[in-house]
Amino acid sequence: MQLPKPFLFFVLATLHSIGFVDAAVLVDFQVAQPPPVPKDAKQCTIEILRRDFAFSFGSAEVVQFEPPVDCGAIGSWAAITLNFTVTSNGTQFDRLGIFTFQNVEIWRTSTPEPTRGDGIIWTYVKDVTRFTPLFAMPGLFILQLDNLIQPGLDEIYSTVLHATFYASSHSNPPAKKADLIVPISNLRNDTGNEVSVPPTFSLNVTLPRNAIQAFAELYASGNGNEEFWVNSYKPSLELCPLTLPAGFLGQGPFREVRMLVDGQVAGVAYPYATIFTGGIVPTAWRPITSYGALDLPTYFLDITPFIPILVDGQPHNISLDVTSAEEDHTILQNWFLSGSLQVFVDISSKPTTGKVTQYSADPFSTTTTVGNVGDNGDIHVTVTALRKIHIESTIISGTGKENRVVWSQDLQYQNVQNILNNTLIQNVFQTSSGSVLSTHNGVPVIVDRFSYPLSIHFTELDPTGNSFKSTFDHSYNRDLRPLPTVVRSRISERQTATGFFFISPDGNTGNGTNSNTFSYSDQAGNTYSRVVEAALGNITFDKQTGSLAPLPMPNQDHLQPFTGFTGKVRLPGGRKLPGL
Ligand SMILES: *[C@@H]1O[C@H](CO)[C@@H](O)[C@H](O)[C@H]1NC(C)=O
Ligand SMILES: *[C@@H]1O[C@H](CO)[C@@H](O)[C@H](O)[C@H]1NC(C)=O
Ligand SMILES: *[C@@H]1O[C@H](CO)[C@@H](O)[C@H](O)[C@H]1NC(C)=O
Ligand SMILES: *[C@@H]1O[C@H](CO)[C@@H](O)[C@H](O)[C@H]1NC(C)=O
Ligand SMILES: *[C@@H]1O[C@H](CO)[C@@H](O)[C@H](O)[C@H]1NC(C)=O
Ligand SMILES: *[C@@H]1O[C@H](CO)[C@@H](O)[C@H](O)[C@H]1NC(C)=O
Ligand SMILES: *[C@@H]1O[C@H](CO)[C@@H](O)[C@H](O)[C@H]1NC(C)=O
Ligand SMILES: *[C@@H]1O[C@H](CO)[C@@H](O)[C@H](O)[C@H]1NC(C)=O
Repeated sequence: MQLPKPFLFFVLATLHSIGFVDAAVLVDFQVAQPPPVPKDAKQCTIEILRRDFAFSFGSAEVVQFEPPVDCGAIGSWAAITLNFTVTSNGTQFDRLGIFTFQNVEIWRTSTPEPTRGDGIIWTYVKDVTRFTPLFAMPGLFILQLDNLIQPGLDEIYSTVLHATFYASSHSNPPAKKADLIVPISNLRNDTGNEVSVPPTFSLNVTLPRNAIQAFAELYASGNGNEEFWVNSYKPSLELCPLTLPAGFLGQGPFREVRMLVDGQVAGVAYPYATIFTGGIVPTAWRPITSYGALDLPTYFLDITPFIPILVDGQPHNISLDVTSAEEDHTILQNWFLSGSLQVFVDISSKPTTGKVTQYSADPFSTTTTVGNVGDNGDIHVTVTALRKIHIESTIISGTGKENRVVWSQDLQYQNVQNILNNTLIQNVFQTSSGSVLSTHNGVPVIVDRFSYPLSIHFTELDPTGNSFKSTFDHSYNRDLRPLPTVVRSRISERQTATGFFFISPDGNTGNGTNSNTFSYSDQAGNTYSRVVEAALGNITFDKQTGSLAPLPMPNQDHLQPFTGFTGKVRLPGGRKLPGL
């Protein structure tokens, strides 16, 4: 959870200090495939930054990066990974972390909430090979991790970030790369380069006149009053006989992230709802974080159809925004967005030509049904949305090659909320799914078939709000080829979790369980699957298989002791904890 400045007062007021059991350091992790890197390549590891984030609000870590010279020619690497390792011991909220390199956001993460005693440690290794053009130049590397230290929140996040470069060779060819990566960001050099919307963010971008292909990557997460956007509900007074907690006055649960080129929609994303580790019941996310918490998913658009417009040598207006399904399409504050364009140019310096031959991007259609407002006040609300985009262009490169480009998105969304028992029960069933495809001369380039079903069943166990429980069933199913330089891969992840939480002046207590079934495979033949379960902070089952599976750890069966609850809670629907 990243707290925008107006919300500081909320943290100041949030004080529930908690008892602990002294035990060994807790190893937190998010389930994910290990990056598919060459096993037999020479590796060069450099430390990029090392920083203890204490009171770091507004004070990002800014370092100068120099490419390594001892792993083959600069930019010829077979792969690049980042290793972010963090320790923490005490009481703290989850925090958002944004890695910006050369003004391009390359990784959005968040922090597991610490425990006191021996504390926690986590490592996440991320594949950043697609950003090779950035790593091949010296430049600024920025980690923004806005943390607060104040009464009741004492924890520092001690971080270290290493990059590992894998030398290319005959058997491990250099990674394919774009010619140019253009940031769609605030371009600042002293903080993370995300922008906060609303309002719509716009930036002038000028592409080389011989650009022939361009692909966008978007980062998007709801923060502040938008953290639990899937739970947002806008009651109309005549339909809602209840006095809902203040935060229920959201803008409905539907959010569409959009990119516009000169005011025309170029593509959209129906975002995956990342739950941070303080989300709803923190005990459900320890030691296994919610899926995506350490590596938020990103979204890919083929904007090659706009090349005929973008290659005139003039600046063009690229915009990012988020809309709701409400009549005015507004959202609450705030979403953090950023993006980049991976651009490919022709070998000829002659300007590219072409034209957009078909453009169809009608606004999404949506329905909101409020049914069965019972005598008892129960509310059932269903929001649906459908979106279709179809854009075609013909592009002719300076060397005379013709590319017929078709870009289509076909997305569906449904969110059903049941608010029961005088608001003590709040159930959400959401699914967003879609089929995204671009073809160049009939050959698939960008592919994204996704389905993100989520159900949250939240219950306040007593009307004082001092105890609550929740169950979660969250999946991330994605068949993705994000860029022409990256192989197509398929991920199926399902996480079910449960948790109880009891707030007490003598120390909060609770429990949680978390179960993951994860599989990854890609067109290069790499496979990985993991079934891992935790109960009460202990790993109770863990099996990894596949070509990317790490070698068995000597103490793999060792139970992970559970050390208590020093995490901070944020509840859905704007519910406040007692005493706030
Ligand atoms: C990641 O970095 C940490 C801290 O430097 C190190 O202990 C760990 O071995 C590294 N893990 C991997 C997989 O490189
Ligand atoms: C964690 O912090 C507590 C004080 O809050 C301290 O007693 C303990 O030694 C620390 N643990 C580690 C591993 O540094
Ligand atoms: C950041 O930009 C400002 C204004 O352009 C400049 O004065 C400053 O030197 C830059 N800082 C770094 C670290 O590049
Ligand atoms: C983009 O540049 C044009 C002039 O070419 C200017 O009028 C416009 O305000 C700029 N837009 C942004 C968002 O900077
Ligand atoms: C850029 O496009 C956005 C979205 O259509 C629009 O709100 C904004 O006014 C435009 N900016 C300029 C300078 O034309
Ligand atoms: C509804 O709330 C009351 C407390 O107000 C509780 O006693 C009852 O068990 C709840 N019913 C359900 C179905 O959760
Ligand atoms: C968690 O605590 C609740 C309430 O005390 C209890 O009913 C439940 O069985 C506990 N769950 C586990 C997995 O121990
Ligand atoms: C968790 O693991 C610890 C350490 O092995 C053990 O003492 C504790 O009983 C375990 N808890 C459960 C519920 O299995």
